[in-house]
Amino acid sequence: MTSPVVLVTGASRGLGRGIALALAELGADLVLNARNVAQLRAVAEEARQKGATVEIVVGDIGEADTARRLAQQAQATFGRIDAVVNNAGIIQPLARIAQAEPEAWLENWRVNLLGPVLLVREALPELRARRGRVVNISSGAAVRPFPGWGAYCAAKAGLNQFTAVLALEETQVTAVAFRPGVVDTDMQTEIRTQGARAMPPEWHRRFLRYKEEGRLRPPEEIGRMVAWLALEAPHEWSGGFLAYYEEPLRSWLRERGIAV
Ligand SMILES: NC(=O)c1ccc[n+]([C@@H]2O[C@H](COP(=O)([O-])OP(=O)(O)OC[C@H]3O[C@@H](n4cnc5c(N)ncnc54)[C@H](OP(=O)(O)O)[C@@H]3O)[C@@H](O)[C@H]2O)c1
Repeated sequence: MTSPVVLVTGASRGLGRGIALALAELGADLVLNARNVAQLRAVAEEARQKGATVEIVVGDIGEADTARRLAQQAQATFGRIDAVVNNAGIIQPLARIAQAEPEAWLENWRVNLLGPVLLVREALPELRARRGRVVNISSGAAVRPFPGWGAYCAAKAGLNQFTAVLALEETQVTAVAFRPGVVDTDMQTEIRTQGARAMPPEWHRRFLRYKEEGRLRPPEEIGRMVAWLALEAPHEWSGGFLAYYEEPLRSWLRERGIAV
């Protein structure tokens, strides 16, 4: 049987690495993207050890050329694209609205919002043909405001709406936005080490407590949830914002052997 082919952005570390390795375990072939070539190569090698055929495309996903190269590489090597996981993301600027530079807001939106749009546009012909899937990695910050995170909150809210509009326009494709909860990655380290200057103390302390109390989820565990969604998310969920702890996703994941 032909393996499904999945494009994953931000795959060099953190949640993206967890998603890539889980997809490899589930039998997918991969085209992985990030900017750090050494880290990306290392993840690609780990995925190959699990039996996947893996290509890497190094570059900034906020650039149209990177998105084009990802789709072209998938076509050249595999001749198909079954799913896209838009995972690459940045939290910066961690700054109040009054203090953050407008250029930093634009940079956040370029990576978090424009990047997914660019990649979906490139992959759409294949996704339509294969009744493929798009998983956009969103955040609780899409629906809940966090002081000091203005650009990120606005980008993730935009990502949810992009997902919803995509689902309406592209009825052959299943597109979902996913809320992963708090995951033990570099992004959480950034919030703990740099968040105090932007967030009120009680908000910042909450993130310190997540770590102290061991409440951050392992990226491998959340990665498995995303991998299943990329391969099998039901079409009736298209356009939705799915949180890992909510029904019906929770029962659906349990049926696939994932404890939530
Ligand atoms: N961690 C959490 O608690 C949490 C909670 C909610 C949502 N999320 C979301 O989960 C996703 C993954 O975050 P994470 O926690 O794993 O963060 P992370 O550890 O900081 O990893 C971010 C990933 O994105 C890549 N990346 C950043 N800018 C990029 C660009 N311009 N082009 C291509 N790749 C880029 C990074 O690789 P390079 O530096 O090599 O490019 C890295 O692989 C993000 O969308 C984030 O918003 C995370």
